Amino acid sequence: MSFPKDFLWGAAAAAYQIEGAAMEDGRGLSIWDVYSHDKNVDSGTGRMNIDNGDTGDVACDHYHRYKEDVALMKEIGLKAYRLSISWSRVLPEGKGKINEKGLDFYGDLVDELLKAGIEPYVTLFHWDLPQALMNLGGWSNPDSPDWFAEYVKVVTDKLSDRVTHWITFNESQCHIIIGHLLGECAPKLKLPYPEVFQAMHHLFLAHGKAVQTIRKYSAKPCMVGYAPCASEVYPVTDKKEDIDAARRAAFDASAKNLWNTSWWIDPIVHGRYPKEGIEAFAEYFPEALLKEEDLALISQPLDFLGINLYRGSGIRHTEEGYVQAEKKIGFDRTAFKWPVTPKVLHYMPKFLFERYHLPVLITENGLSMADWVSLDGKVHDPQRIDFMNRYLLELSKALDEGVNVVGYFAWSIMDNFEWSQGYGERFGLIHVDFETQKRTLKDSAYWYRDIITSNGEGL
Ligand code: NOJ
Repeated sequence: MSFPKDFLWGAAAAAYQIEGAAMEDGRGLSIWDVYSHDKNVDSGTGRMNIDNGDTGDVACDHYHRYKEDVALMKEIGLKAYRLSISWSRVLPEGKGKINEKGLDFYGDLVDELLKAGIEPYVTLFHWDLPQALMNLGGWSNPDSPDWFAEYVKVVTDKLSDRVTHWITFNESQCHIIIGHLLGECAPKLKLPYPEVFQAMHHLFLAHGKAVQTIRKYSAKPCMVGYAPCASEVYPVTDKKEDIDAARRAAFDASAKNLWNTSWWIDPIVHGRYPKEGIEAFAEYFPEALLKEEDLALISQPLDFLGINLYRGSGIRHTEEGYVQAEKKIGFDRTAFKWPVTPKVLHYMPKFLFERYHLPVLITENGLSMADWVSLDGKVHDPQRIDFMNRYLLELSKALDEGVNVVGYFAWSIMDNFEWSQGYGERFGLIHVDFETQKRTLKDSAYWYRDIITSNGEGL
């Protein structure tokens, strides 16, 4: 069977999306608190920052209910749980004074996970930059890599006797492109390109310093990775020419488009910015970012490459190169209207492994559906089961072809605050009633339990 014996079956969530307790026990504000509390309606779009004016103030109240939540994870049989740390809970001002109560919460959560036999995978940054640091310029400030290293040291000192798997940044490109270029999520900036590149570069330096910090101060041998998303593509057929075309598309930075995968992983793994990308952005890309010592710091050796994969575009070979195939009329889609494209889980891990030669960890995959509690008290989500089944079968093809995929984290362990969509999109294996905080395992949670128990035999 495709899945290796020690394959890591997990589920994931992130601090701001589930914790709540936003104003409790000394936590400082993050840019997402400020952004979600700005309820002005944009005159152009007619929208508030967050649909319905939702905020993460309470979210899933996980801060108070983590024991119940870990018990549910245990019931599902998770081998690993990917959590993120709220920087401003640990360091309310982003640097300087430590908030011991906030730090203790993560210590307690990790203890609870370990007691349940669940391996914690800790993401250090999942978009919630402390507002105090934003006030100092955030990632535009050249001191930002040092701020991050200071925070990472505090967390490493606290948890590294128990946590041995670390992820520096989650989806760095969404944070930078959507938050700093397009102004469509926190911190809602529309910076000119050169400044966007500068912020990205500081974030990359922060990543490098974080890797060094963890390795230097960890109490135990540990594994460190990074979890971007990717320009998700797959070949429309399994013909070699289409596969080659999709591979080219996955890393083709020649268009003036910052989303391409190579912008976000080449510097981190190979220590270089994509050449065609720099050419495409010639008038905007600051040459100062090409300093060798910076790139050496950015490209610290990693133990694994995390990747978040959800939905892709079919790519077809043409005489001139490749094109994105049209979606069929009435294509399968999730509640979020994201196309259902299982093949991304076959081909993207393969392309990434070929290019970067690192063990691949699927740090997120899943879908939102319009789930509710039925009259029988259960949550029936056959489409989530079918989605996961199809995607995991495709992933098994990558494994069969020798791609070193070490694990899979479903997004998400529970319904939560889906950023700009607030509580309007449900991604969980566990249903959450946001008024009563009642948790209900969805049918997919029981199905996933069986998949985990059989190590994928049931697919
Ligand atoms: C990626 C993000 O990391 C996560 O926070 C988000 O909820 C999911 N994708 C679904 O959009």
